[in-house]
Amino acid sequence: MAKDNGSGAGNGYEPEIVGIFCNWCTYAGADLAGTSRLEYPPNIKAIRVMCSGRVDPVFVVKSLKDGADGVFISGCHLGECHYQSGNYKAVRRIGLLRRMLGSMGLDPDRVQMEHISASEGKLFAEKVTEFTETIRELGPSPLAGGD
Ligand code: FES
Repeated sequence: MAKDNGSGAGNGYEPEIVGIFCNWCTYAGADLAGTSRLEYPPNIKAIRVMCSGRVDPVFVVKSLKDGADGVFISGCHLGECHYQSGNYKAVRRIGLLRRMLGSMGLDPDRVQMEHISASEGKLFAEKVTEFTETIRELGPSPLAGGD
């Protein structure tokens, strides 16, 4: 997909990223990354929810509208959701949202869904680093600050 802005690379721009993490897995994985002193970019601001199935696509759109350049959602691995099927719901919703964002001209890569368990601190650090680089390349969200 074509870049929706592209002005971020190489100009000292620091992306603002919202992370929405499941309490039972990714939030603990982020904690593990911290206590293991793994390095990852500090651009992400974490919000804890009880399950990725709790993530309403409206939260994501609102985050983008309110200034986030990207939103990173992460929950339990498929088959391991504490509420049975919440993460399947999240995968479907976020997939649809990405398609919708794409058809509105916003790069769908600004929104990413991952599955990271409590023991995967290293994976957490890697995925957050990758996502931050993707957003850095895309540049500031054209939605940020809109009415
Ligand atoms: Fe973690 Fe549902 S409890 S995704």
